[in-house]
Amino acid sequence: MKHTLITIAIALLALTAAHAQQYVPTPENLAAREQFRDDKFGIFIHWGVYSMLGQGEWAMTNHNINRDEYAKLPSGFYPSRFDADAWVKAIADAGARYICFTSRHHDGFSMWDTQYSDYNIVDATPYGRDILKELSDACRKYGVHLHLYYSHLDWYRDDYYPLGRTGRGTGRTTHGSWDTYYEFMNNQLTELLTHYAPIRALWFDGVWDQPEDFDWRLPEQYTMIHEIDPACLIANNHHRAIVPGEDLQIFERDLPGENTAGYSGGQSISALPLETCQTMNGMWGYQITDQNYKSARDLIHYLVRAAGRNANLLLNVGPQPNGELPALALDRLHAMGEWLRANGETVYGTRGGDVPPHDWGVTTRKGDRLYVHILDLSDRGLFLPLTGVKVLSAVQFSDRTPVKYTQTRDGVFLTFPAVPTDTDYIIELTLKNR
Ligand code: GLC
Repeated sequence: MKHTLITIAIALLALTAAHAQQYVPTPENLAAREQFRDDKFGIFIHWGVYSMLGQGEWAMTNHNINRDEYAKLPSGFYPSRFDADAWVKAIADAGARYICFTSRHHDGFSMWDTQYSDYNIVDATPYGRDILKELSDACRKYGVHLHLYYSHLDWYRDDYYPLGRTGRGTGRTTHGSWDTYYEFMNNQLTELLTHYAPIRALWFDGVWDQPEDFDWRLPEQYTMIHEIDPACLIANNHHRAIVPGEDLQIFERDLPGENTAGYSGGQSISALPLETCQTMNGMWGYQITDQNYKSARDLIHYLVRAAGRNANLLLNVGPQPNGELPALALDRLHAMGEWLRANGETVYGTRGGDVPPHDWGVTTRKGDRLYVHILDLSDRGLFLPLTGVKVLSAVQFSDRTPVKYTQTRDGVFLTFPAVPTDTDYIIELTLKNR
């Protein structure tokens, strides 16, 4: 009897624990997820005092810079040409619907007026302006949603301990306690969510710094965030399977389902909204010698290929230490904006289309419209394995010229007037369910 009671007690405990683990997103959260999916295109901004070194956001650890030396950078940080309004206007004109800004990167420097550390943009720089506040005001003005990147790891603080895989050469010798670091993070997150609201998403990064079995206490942190703002979408670039409490799934430098960069091997595609982050050149933070920007055509293709995989593109810009966006980044933003003004209808608000992604391109779907995006085809015809629907019409999206097609039980064959050469040759099919 005693044995049975103990067994029942253990079973009950396990059930309660499982229940506590279960995360049920609120209706506001679910609505924010759909809004996020509709947006399709965001701009990532990696900006901090590291921009002064012009070697990307990892300079501190890559060059084993002592943290007391590194901490002299802020006193020289004066981005005289920073203009939040101009940034957000350029980004909105590019057709991006949200910005993800690095509030605090791995170097531990806070880009807002935080009360939990003096190591921040207002207290530690002669500039003394709350950059995040200015950005959030500009976002509101232009109707751009604000997401915040927040690093879980820290190369500066003593209480980020045990030390992780990175940041071993930054000279931390006294080690504080993880508990105070965890509390510090939660205080800062509370501050961000309450002083800069609305924050549509929090974008975490750095979990990969510690061994697999390290307890980051993520579910507890996520619960806290959702208690403050149930609609806030939580994303984590941990390169692993989704943790309960997360609302978005991130893929770094790869489209969902691919793993060319080597970060996505540990995760399969979940049912959550998806986002791929990618650089415009080769670095996230400002890299003074890297002018090797992807072409506008390639960037548009990446955006479209992401949409065809039901994912958003979060495309990075690394502003200069003087506060300006690099000229080449502005050029690419401009080109994307022009393309999206003409073709955005086939991207925004769509979901991955009925035909799976292919080398020639992808399809996107909105209501009864299926957009066939032909990106790379050296043929005048294309077969689509489209079944279960009847095609009512096929036109070139650009000028509504009808496109010849034949439909059989196996699919649809499209015939074009010439081999497609457009950046994206879009055919709009109107479908009827059979
Ligand atoms: C990686 C890098 C980090 C960058 C992030 C963006 O995690 O460590 O510096 O911010 O990717 O996706």
